[in-house]
Amino acid sequence: MKYGLSQKFSDIYNKEAESAYFSPGRINLIGEHIDYNGGLVMPCAITFGTYLLIAPNPDGVFRFRSLNFNDAPDIPLQSSYQKIGDGWFNFPLGVIDHFLKDGHQFHGLDMLYFGDIPIGAGLSSSASIEVVTAFALNELFNTGYSKLDLVKIAKSVENNFIGMNCGIMDQFAVAFGEKDKAIILNCNTLNYELVNSNIKNYVLAIINTNKSRKLVESKYNKRVEECQTALTALKQELDINYLCDIDTTTFNQYKHLITNEVVCKRAKHVIEENDRVKLAANALANNNLAEFGKLMYASHDSLRDLYEVSGKELDVVVEYAKTNPAVAGARMTGAGFGGCAIALVKQEEFENFSLELSTYYTNKIGYAPSIYSSLIGNGAGIYNEYSVAGGQL
Ligand code: GLA
Repeated sequence: MKYGLSQKFSDIYNKEAESAYFSPGRINLIGEHIDYNGGLVMPCAITFGTYLLIAPNPDGVFRFRSLNFNDAPDIPLQSSYQKIGDGWFNFPLGVIDHFLKDGHQFHGLDMLYFGDIPIGAGLSSSASIEVVTAFALNELFNTGYSKLDLVKIAKSVENNFIGMNCGIMDQFAVAFGEKDKAIILNCNTLNYELVNSNIKNYVLAIINTNKSRKLVESKYNKRVEECQTALTALKQELDINYLCDIDTTTFNQYKHLITNEVVCKRAKHVIEENDRVKLAANALANNNLAEFGKLMYASHDSLRDLYEVSGKELDVVVEYAKTNPAVAGARMTGAGFGGCAIALVKQEEFENFSLELSTYYTNKIGYAPSIYSSLIGNGAGIYNEYSVAGGQL
């Protein structure tokens, strides 16, 4: 198996793994910080992700091992759990807790996780680990949840067990993604469409700023709160459930109801970004990558100036991208506060782009970024090399 994971499982547990699962990470092409505002987002699953090898044990113990982290707790089977410190294993533990509280009977499990997705870089390593665990438990214990149920369970773990008030985009994208497709997801109705990610002679570059993200959860939750405040103000005169229920024109008529200037800026980003996703969907359908790229840049500017979730490192990446004619567009992706940017780069110029950007970034920031050319891959499921590699192995 890829990365010699079966062997590593046997080395750790002195027995063979009985099954293996995979969940990808995701990038978001456009539609940032609007999933929890009932808006439209456009994520894709990527070919990096989290692998889980698993076997039952008769000892009534959940054994958590990871090739990425040193924490390796053995946690006895109980009827429920609470978060224990900040260890990585809280993500799967939260999923186990959710299944137990739903009344499912479990036995002990020996688990080995490995992620080839850069951790904490805004590519949804946490959704990936939650969703891979949820898929595995659903298969192993025949709990009969639908794919959407598993997505909702994973989101609820993130919100209630971990304490990050995220929307549904990440868990949805890593479960429902398909090779070479972008998902256009309405986060209010959960209706979605898979569209060809027609990027033709362009590649999607993922640029990890390698800036360690601190206090992401609290800053993120603060933005969620600010959006709630804006919504409450608008509801004085508008019958709406989410900020994204209105468009920019209506917002301009009613924005005076939001008295706090900062809160007003947050709402303006959300509503304009939602409008941008609609334009971006059209641009993609018409193969108009130049237009798509402009919308990416506009999204980034708004996240920097109105929503204030970018940062010097992400801005430097986008600043460079704007100077390179081989780039159609670039923006930060995910929650922000460091993490990753994405760029659409002409395929034949990718090497040159990487070298130039690396130098530019290192000169300005003092250390190098990591740059990948990503493939858009399949969503979570039982691991088989064909599905994970999108048929390319
Ligand atoms: C994080 C959250 C998502 C979404 C993005 C920003 O990735 O988990 O729900 O809000 O940030 O778009």
